[in-house]
Amino acid sequence: MSLTIGVDIGGTKVGGGLVDATGNVLATARRPTPADDTPGVIQAVKEVVDELRAGHEIEAVGIGAAGWISSDRSTVMLAPNLSWKNEPLRDKVSEAIGLPAVVENDANVAIWGEHRYGAAKGHRSSVLYTIGTGVGGGIVVKDNLLRGTNGVAAEIGHMRVVPDGRPCGCGRHGCLEQYASGRALTQAARDGAKADPTKARVLLKLAGGDPDAITGRQTTEAAREGDEVALAAFDSIGYYLGNSAADMVNLIDPGVILIAGGVVDAGDLLLDPIRKHYKEALAHRAEVPVAEVRAAELGSKAGVIGASDLARHREDLS
Ligand code: BGC
Ligand code: NA
Ligand code: ZN
Repeated sequence: MSLTIGVDIGGTKVGGGLVDATGNVLATARRPTPADDTPGVIQAVKEVVDELRAGHEIEAVGIGAAGWISSDRSTVMLAPNLSWKNEPLRDKVSEAIGLPAVVENDANVAIWGEHRYGAAKGHRSSVLYTIGTGVGGGIVVKDNLLRGTNGVAAEIGHMRVVPDGRPCGCGRHGCLEQYASGRALTQAARDGAKADPTKARVLLKLAGGDPDAITGRQTTEAAREGDEVALAAFDSIGYYLGNSAADMVNLIDPGVILIAGGVVDAGDLLLDPIRKHYKEALAHRAEVPVAEVRAAELGSKAGVIGASDLARHREDLS
């Protein structure tokens, strides 16, 4: 049976999977992401692919990357949180590995994986948020990935939620990403602990007493133990995500709204506040049929599976 490889280039690791035509991941491989250096990233992708292809016939490789990808799936035109600009990633990877390649946005490959094989399966339209360093968006409408005219549709993380708000890597101010990312969660926890240390006892204990040393993981752990500031931090990103999700309902009327990315490990600590604020923001729209907010199902494999599927169907660019 024909196999393809999906690779997800993330901020900390380059993760790959060997995937069959029914979406089964047969093997995985990973390398740390080299900092700010394209030849290093290409080398890491090559190593991951070489490890996975040994002993198999591979048809093509699909790559998910955090940034604005050209409509022909060849180039990272710009990446708000990385140093890439007009980077012809597809051809560089293809040359390095001697196989056809396609490049697609990291959130787009994640929703594509969920649409084909995960929590969005059976829904003709769906919306996905990835919560990590940035906030990524993926939208499927009528079984097609919404890619827009220039390949850069569904950048939900750069929709403005606060007029004249925090500066963003995209050059704007007040983007959702600045209020709902993993980074924003940590920032909210740090700010909260500084403002009222008595409400952040667990958090501060975990961080050795230094509010600036608080991490995302510690925020999750502290919230689990009922730390008020940690819970408020989740409520704050939940507020922005829930309101954004209600906007997506008004725009797309999807069958399901999925939340993906590292922060989703927090489970209901994150999903409950999103659902609460989503319902409030929907107002009367909640009285008629409306999408449920759920965690993505394929976890860290969604991107790899989606990218491998796009590689398999690389001829039909939709
Ligand atoms: C980028 C998106 C990406 C997201 C998540 C955003 O800053 O603009 O292209 O999907 O981060 O990585
Ligand atoms: Na996207
Ligand atoms: Zn932005």
